[in-house]
Amino acid sequence: MPEILADEQKIQRSLVIEIGAGKGMHALSFAKQNPDKHLIAIERTRNKFDAFFKMTQTQQLSNLTAVHADAIAWIVQALAPHSLTQIYLLYPNPEQHNPNQQWLNMPFFEFLLSRLQTGGEIVLATNIEPYIDNAEEQAGTLWCLPTIRQEVPIDSQRTHFEIKYLARKETCWQLTMTKPEGYQTRFDAWQAN
Ligand SMILES: C[S@@+](CC[C@H](N)C(=O)[O-])C[C@H]1O[C@@H](n2cnc3c(N)ncnc32)[C@H](O)[C@@H]1O
Repeated sequence: MPEILADEQKIQRSLVIEIGAGKGMHALSFAKQNPDKHLIAIERTRNKFDAFFKMTQTQQLSNLTAVHADAIAWIVQALAPHSLTQIYLLYPNPEQHNPNQQWLNMPFFEFLLSRLQTGGEIVLATNIEPYIDNAEEQAGTLWCLPTIRQEVPIDSQRTHFEIKYLARKETCWQLTMTKPEGYQTRFDAWQAN
């Protein structure tokens, strides 16, 4: 299904994805606040997705698609190159001892970048300081992306995890990475040949 869906949505509205949407708190409010954008929010854990999907049924937002899937497999199959304007990775919370689970350490991150339009943004938020430090480093040195690092305001309430961490007085950080003009990935070369 998915590539057709992504192509159709792209024509009408700017396309945004959220990976690991949990119970959909950010997805629902984003869709309400951005009627000119279409958000595809992906969550792989069944009970969280079910809670999210239930909310989408009651709120009937035509610019929100909730997807129950592993985001990596779904994105590889579904999204056309240069189809996205924004990608949200909010509190991905990897196993601390396994750096391979951090999105910017994965080879898949290059594929994700190939789906982003020029000027498109990836927004990563976390309460784990070594995660944001590594993400900032990898974004600059490995992926050659301009970045902005900010502390998340203490009254921010975008997601359930964000609310929980800020209530505990933990610091949360956000890294915004932008795809610059002329950026090439190996997937662009592969598509072109
Ligand atoms: C710590 S929770 C955060 C949920 C939500 N973003 C929030 O901030 O409240 C991380 C979520 O990402 C989901 N997740 C992790 N890897 C994923 C993947 N590859 N595809 C889809 N969902 C994923 C997990 O199932 C989990 O619900």
